[in-house]
Amino acid sequence: MKIWKKVISGAVALSMVGIIAACGDNNEVNNEPENDDAGNDTEENVNNDTANNNDEENDAEASEDQEEVTLTYARGNDATGATNVLIDAFMEENPHITVEFREMPADTGQSHDQYVTEFSAGDATIDVFDADVIWPAEFAQGGYVLELDRFIERDGIDMDEYFEGTVDSGNFDGRQWAMPKFTDAGLLYYRSDIVDEAPETWDDLIEMATEYQGEEGTDFGYLMQANQYEGLVVNAVEFIAAYGGSVLDEDQNVTVNSPETIAAIEKMIEIVESDFVPGDILNFDEPATHTAFLEGQSVFARNWPYMQAMTEDEDQSQVQGKVEFALLPAGDAGSASGLGGWMSMINRNSEHPEEAWELLKFMTGAEGQKITAIEGGSAPTLRALYDDEEVREAAPLFADEEFVNTLENAVPRPVSPIYPQISDLMQIELSRALAGDITAEEAAENMESAIESALAE
Ligand code: GLC
Repeated sequence: MKIWKKVISGAVALSMVGIIAACGDNNEVNNEPENDDAGNDTEENVNNDTANNNDEENDAEASEDQEEVTLTYARGNDATGATNVLIDAFMEENPHITVEFREMPADTGQSHDQYVTEFSAGDATIDVFDADVIWPAEFAQGGYVLELDRFIERDGIDMDEYFEGTVDSGNFDGRQWAMPKFTDAGLLYYRSDIVDEAPETWDDLIEMATEYQGEEGTDFGYLMQANQYEGLVVNAVEFIAAYGGSVLDEDQNVTVNSPETIAAIEKMIEIVESDFVPGDILNFDEPATHTAFLEGQSVFARNWPYMQAMTEDEDQSQVQGKVEFALLPAGDAGSASGLGGWMSMINRNSEHPEEAWELLKFMTGAEGQKITAIEGGSAPTLRALYDDEEVREAAPLFADEEFVNTLENAVPRPVSPIYPQISDLMQIELSRALAGDITAEEAAENMESAIESALAE
């Protein structure tokens, strides 16, 4: 299946993040011998025999050495169901550990605020949790999480096996605070029963969305995340980069007030004000997007890789076999995909740091990431899993070189210790522009002065 159009050759000259594929031995993804199905039969048999012969002794030892522990693991709402499979697999291998799943809001900003409230009060309820790629520096600085280097070194985990950019997102002050669980990059989904090819540029998308809206029972031409929340910033960063703009440069200078950013915001306004998006597009987040798209309501949609697995799930999707993916359309400077993704961290106040680490290590190791990829459609951060047959078969996306390239070249959000504040300021001004209250020029000017004052504080 040809997923990617070759349109945008050289388009992603936007590789600001420089995630470099780690080159490592594919068979030893995480130094976990038990992950290597092929080589371990004999060893397993031996272990089983020993276990059978010494059941009583082993049980006694187990209960002495391995205290029964219950961990609380938190992450945002998981519409794919992968989390339960992941937890069950972990508990099966670690019978002395029970994991209770605490579901947090789907909105990353709301989850963030709940974690900050609990952790800053020293609450020990949550042991392990998933952190958006934009949080680790803040959580490390706030003293909310455990530093992981001692575990990583002790268990011989080779960080070079992971995409470099995802490791960097969890590194602060030279230390590792989070392990990469899955990575995200914005994609364009389209209905292959309606259009033959994905649009090459945003102007093409506007034209095609207008033309094909209404075909095959669709109500809309395009869906995006335009609600006032973190997802809006990601959508905006994609437009801004596609038109050649940026928010901050490497030296933390504010660069957002530029003709390029203004052109990008104008394009967003044009789309949001068009007749081919839902009337309430300003309330749309990822769940609203996948719900409408899976119901067959739209020709095109921007979303993360997880939606791919859902489109083929007969219980959830009315568009099975009718969906393809492509790079997001290009602006004047090319196509840009926003970098997202999730890491796992341990609450500094967890009463069970060892067991918490075992869970974190499992989820972010090869076995756990494989479950998240196959059951949840989320993209692994371990390079070697893209060569794993089961992963490749589970989702065409993962077998596609261009997609893996997109992941490696995705554009990060502004990198700053005060990112949450910058994001809030951007959300406010972008929302006002999309609602028609201010112009794109005013939004760019306001973002510049607000971010400059925040950085100067
Ligand atoms: C996805 C991304 C995350 C981003 C969020 C925005 O969950 O992985 O990085 O912040 O969407 O809604």
